[in-house]
Amino acid sequence: MTEHLLKAANTFGTPAYLYDLDAICQRIEVLRDLFDGRFGISYAIKANPNPALLAAIKPLLSTFDASSIAEVHRALDAGMDADRITFSGPAKRLPEITGAIDVGVGELVIENLHEARQASDYATRMGVEQTILVRLNPLEVPRKFGASMGGTSSQFGIDEESMEVDLPALQSLPGLKLVGFHIYSGTNCLNSEAIAENFGLFAAIFRKAQKITGISPERLVFGSGFGVPYLPGEAELDHAALPALINPIIDDLLAEPAFANASCNLELGRWLVGLCGWLLTTVVSQKTSRGREIRMCDAGFNNHLAACGMMGSVLRRNWIYENISNKTGTTAPYTLVGPLCTTIDRLALDVELAEVRVGDVIAVASSGAYGLTASPSQFISHPYPSEVVIQNGEMREATEPLRYHSFDRSNPRGAER
Ligand SMILES: Cc1ncc(COP(=O)(O)O)c(C=O)c1O
Repeated sequence: MTEHLLKAANTFGTPAYLYDLDAICQRIEVLRDLFDGRFGISYAIKANPNPALLAAIKPLLSTFDASSIAEVHRALDAGMDADRITFSGPAKRLPEITGAIDVGVGELVIENLHEARQASDYATRMGVEQTILVRLNPLEVPRKFGASMGGTSSQFGIDEESMEVDLPALQSLPGLKLVGFHIYSGTNCLNSEAIAENFGLFAAIFRKAQKITGISPERLVFGSGFGVPYLPGEAELDHAALPALINPIIDDLLAEPAFANASCNLELGRWLVGLCGWLLTTVVSQKTSRGREIRMCDAGFNNHLAACGMMGSVLRRNWIYENISNKTGTTAPYTLVGPLCTTIDRLALDVELAEVRVGDVIAVASSGAYGLTASPSQFISHPYPSEVVIQNGEMREATEPLRYHSFDRSNPRGAER
């Protein structure tokens, strides 16, 4: 890969992200085949919304999951049919709900009764029936998930213990058709047993929700939480171990008459794209400060917040860095910082690297998911990074065009239309 990384840096400049679309497509195929057709794949656009990436993976997917109306439009622009887009998210603005109904998204993922009522009012007014999934918020999430959304009070979905009251209330709303259930309760898990345990919990909640609603679900979404290693020495998720653990859970569920019509989707992002992206940054200056070798780079947390430990890490640890300009140099500890005027703009502390000189290019691995998209790129007005892709073995620039505007800001509360 080093050759590609250097070529990208030399051709397109830095900071730059490189995404290997060929490798991403391969991972989707691996996952699709892993469970012998038990699951379709739903890609969560939030992980990496680059339009070239979305267009490349679209033919391999069952659905795109969008979490804003702009992401709905990204999915449409990538060529996905509207009825194969789901729209989740805890704070959908009214114009986003109405916009999603207008374009005919396949499944609006209802997170609370308030937005259900808004969707119901609008669909009724428009004379349409909007298909919905309801997101359920489990009481329990197994340990070993990087971040857990369930088991505590949260903005995500209908609480498991409120289903008896809230699901019938939701079903009584006109203009909406409940076709299934959705759970996403934990992220970035590298342990196959914990993932299977979580799917077992999902199946139990889906059974409860089915009994309460009496529907024969057409769709069940398993927010998968499959993780990727970010830190040196972390082992990859043993995905090959998953079918033996998960297939029996799915087979038992689908064998029940009430679930005979259900199609199951795995909803995920980072496992598909995370390992297939790199941030490339050039060392622009250097100093020795009180015994520490510091190298100043042209990218910092403005371009990669997650690598700088600010996407929720409690203990900040170095990600996987490589000096791709000097792979055989003598190694020593270096502290890599970015261009921002704040002490928190630190990429790595005392990371062992081959001698780092001004002009060298450093690659940050595991940067395909929640990289640029989850970073405050406008801070201090440094240049926006290029985005470069490899597709069918060819490298080209695919920098994100800044054209997605969610809705008319002069009408943010979505007055009567
Ligand atoms: C509802 C939902 N689906 C899918 C995802 C994707 O998660 P990941 O990229 O960890 O697979 C998220 C991430 O937060 C999410 O909130």
